[in-house]
Amino acid sequence: MTKKLYIQTLGCAMNERDSEHIIAELAQKERYDLTDDPKQADLILINTCSVREKPERKLFSEIGQFALHKKQGAKIGVCGCTASHLGGEIIKKSPHVDFVLGARNTSKITQVLHTPKAVEVDIDYDDSTYVFASPQTMGIKALLNISIGCDKKCSYCIVPFTRGKEISIPQDLLLNEARKLAAKGVKELLLLGQNVNNYGVRFSVPHEKVDFATLLHNLSEIDGIERLRFTSPHPLHMNDEFLAEFARNPKICKSIHIPLQSGSSKILKAMKRGYTKEWYLERVAKLREFCAREGREDVGISTDIIVGFPGESDADFEDTLDVARQVRFDTMYSFIYSPRPHTSAYNTESSLLVDSEVAKERLATLQNLHREILAQKSQDEIGRVVEVLVENHHKQERWSEGRSDHNRLIKIGNFVGDIGEIVRVKITNAQGGSLSGEVIAYA
Ligand code: 5AD
Ligand code: SF4
Repeated sequence: MTKKLYIQTLGCAMNERDSEHIIAELAQKERYDLTDDPKQADLILINTCSVREKPERKLFSEIGQFALHKKQGAKIGVCGCTASHLGGEIIKKSPHVDFVLGARNTSKITQVLHTPKAVEVDIDYDDSTYVFASPQTMGIKALLNISIGCDKKCSYCIVPFTRGKEISIPQDLLLNEARKLAAKGVKELLLLGQNVNNYGVRFSVPHEKVDFATLLHNLSEIDGIERLRFTSPHPLHMNDEFLAEFARNPKICKSIHIPLQSGSSKILKAMKRGYTKEWYLERVAKLREFCAREGREDVGISTDIIVGFPGESDADFEDTLDVARQVRFDTMYSFIYSPRPHTSAYNTESSLLVDSEVAKERLATLQNLHREILAQKSQDEIGRVVEVLVENHHKQERWSEGRSDHNRLIKIGNFVGDIGEIVRVKITNAQGGSLSGEVIAYA
C-alpha cells in the first residue's frame, strides 16, 4: 500500500531541491506518493526558510493548523533552515511535531521517519557524496546542487548557521547526474549553491583541482543538455576567467543573478560583503563587455537588495538607487532588513537602526524605480529575436510560453510543436513587464 506525502516548501531554490530529494527518497524507499491535500496525508513535511523573521514566526501557527486537520496517526516533520536554527526547541514548543530534520541532514529523511521525536540538525554533517534517489517524473528542466553550505559571513545572513561550511560536490558525481538527467529528456540545468562560483574550494574526498568555469565547460559538453543556468554567484568571485566562459559558451544562458545587497560602499563594508560599489559596477561592465564581444548585448541581470540595514542613511540609499539606475536590472528581489539571531549585525546598537516607516518608504521607492526601468527595457525588447525554450503549450487556446535565454518569460502566439523545443522568437509586444512574440524559426 502506498502512503501519501504532503510537503510545503518555503524559501529558495536550494530548499526546492532538498524537497525534491526528500520526495524521491520517500517514494523509492518508503513508497510515498505526493498529495496536495494535507488532510489526506500520512506524512506532512514543512521545509522551512529562516532568512527573514516573519515566516519563521508563522511556523508554529502553521504546525497547529496541520495538527488540527490531519488524518489520525499522520506524522508531522519540520525540515530545512528553521529546523537547523531552532532544533529540539521546535518539539518542545509544539508536541505535534514528530521529527526535526536540518537543512544539512536531508539524506537522513528515512532514518528520522522511524525515530520518534528525532532531531537531526548537525551543521557539520556532510552529505556532499550521498547519491539521492532519482525523481520519478522529470520535466525538461532540472535543479542540480553543486555545493552545500556557505563560508561567507555576511553580517545579516543566518545561512552559514543553518547550512554550515561550504563543501563542493565531486565533479564526477555531478557529470554522472547530468548525463542521467539528459537521458531522461532534461534540456536545461539550474546549478545551485549558496556561492556557486566558489565551486571547488573544498571537497570532502580527494579531488583534482577544478573551478566553476571548468565545471560549466564540462557540463556543457554533455549531449542533450542544451542550456545551463546557475544561482547564486558572488560578485567577489566573478573573475575574468569565469566571465569569459560565461560569455563564450553558447550553452550558458545569458542571464545571471548578481546579488548587490546595497549600492553604498559604507553599508557593503558593514555587511561584510568584501566589495565596493565601484567593484560591483566594474564587474557588471566587464560582464557586458565580454558578452558584447560575443555578439550578446542583451545579457539579463537579476539581483537581491536589502534596504534599511543598520546605519543606512539617505545618502547610502541614494547609492543603491544610483546602482539600480546604472545597471538597469531585469529582475530585482528587494527586502527590508530583518535582524537574525547568530549574525554579527544582530546586536547592533539601537541608535543605528533604521525606522521601519523609513525602510518601507525606501523599499517602495526602489521597487517603483525598478518597475519604471523594466517597462522601458521591455519596450527596448520589441523587434529583438531571442531563443526560447518552450515550457507550456496550449494547443486549443493557441498560445505557448517559455523563457528566453536572457530569462524573460515570453508568450508565443504561433508555435506548433512540442514542449522542450528551442525556437527563435521575434518579440512583437511589451506590456508592463510582459513580453510576447512570434516564432520565426524552429531548431
Ligand atoms: N534580512 C533581509 N533580507 C535578507 N536576505 C538575507 N538575509 C536577510 C536579512 N537578514 C536576503 C538577501 C539574500 C536573499 C536570499 O535574502 O538579499 O540575497
Ligand atoms: Fe534558502 Fe537561505 Fe532560506 Fe535556507 S535561509 S531556505 S538557504 S533562502
